[in-house]
Amino acid sequence: MKITRTVLSLGLALSASIAFGQTGDPANLIGTKKCAMCHKKASTGDQYGVWQTKAHSKAYTMLSGEEAKAVGAKLGIDNPQTSGQCLKCHSTAYFFTETQQSDAVAVEDGVSCESCHGPGANYRKKSVMESREASIAGGMVYPAKEKSCTLCHNDTSPTWKPDRYTLPDGTKTGFDADQAYEKIKHERPAN
Ligand code: HEC
Ligand code: HEC
Ligand code: HEC
Ligand code: HEC
Repeated sequence: MKITRTVLSLGLALSASIAFGQTGDPANLIGTKKCAMCHKKASTGDQYGVWQTKAHSKAYTMLSGEEAKAVGAKLGIDNPQTSGQCLKCHSTAYFFTETQQSDAVAVEDGVSCESCHGPGANYRKKSVMESREASIAGGMVYPAKEKSCTLCHNDTSPTWKPDRYTLPDGTKTGFDADQAYEKIKHERPAN
């Protein structure tokens, strides 16, 4: 009896530590700065530095602007920067929900690495990251271009414009992952 219970609780403790990754963060998020530890070298593409120059890193700060306030006002939202209805898509810390899911990512970081690549707690180790297969097994979303973008770039967004993009054949569309990717890409330099 006693042994069984010990084995059982050990099993539970183990599965809990797997579910919560190595950080104890319930959403398995680790935050932009942790990714930056290995992804800010110019020789491998400085993904962190590139992200800082792009729209996604400003997705939270821009919610204090006049345009965002006007969008919020129409929906009865006084302050978009504190509304889950906006932060679900404008901040990784809310992770696609209307409540904050994690303290590991700064709300101010807007849309950061893990919104597109998946929560990093179980793939952050160098030995895992070096293998695409192991990284995917640890929760890395790949390819992000096909799997992540439309979680936010869709017609539930209050500023969705069905004709924002024009396809090569002239058709208008609200989102085109190929063209949008060109504007945010952060690739390793070709050797
Ligand atoms: C301990 C170092 C380290 C940390 C921390 C780290 N990475 Fe990596 N990552 C690597 C290495 C090494 C590679 C292998 C390729 C390379 O050199 O860029 C890699 C590759 C990748 C790739 C390319 C995957 C592929 O198969 O093409 C992505 C995407 C990525 N990392 C995202 C992240 C994100 C997001 C975080 C934070 C959640 C993160 N990494 C944290 C070291 C790290
Ligand atoms: C379903 C996800 C989603 C939600 C919810 C959301 N946004 Fe956005 N928002 C986006 C995306 C994606 C963009 C980038 C524009 C694009 O490509 O569609 C954006 C862009 C914007 C812009 C820039 C205008 C533009 O047309 O590019 C403003 C302002 C804005 N959002 C305000 C808000 C406010 C205020 C809220 C809350 C009331 C909110 N958003 C909720 C996804 C969302
Ligand atoms: C977590 C939600 C989220 C995800 C996932 C996401 N985006 Fe965005 N995206 C936004 C928001 C919010 C903005 C507006 C930010 C701003 O203007 O400061 C935006 C803006 C952009 C912009 C600049 C506005 C425009 O439409 O030209 C591009 C380009 C873009 N995203 C491409 C992508 C691509 C490509 C992917 C997938 C690889 C992606 N996004 C995934 C939320 C998201
Ligand atoms: C808006 C979504 C989005 C955000 C935010 C984002 N990435 Fe990416 N990233 C992509 C896409 C799309 C690719 C191309 C591969 C794919 O589709 O998965 C990519 C590729 C990469 C690669 C591989 C580069 C190569 O040449 O193969 C690395 C490394 C990487 N990202 C790291 C990061 C880090 C670190 C951050 C945060 C500082 C970050 N990314 C933020 C969407 C994103």
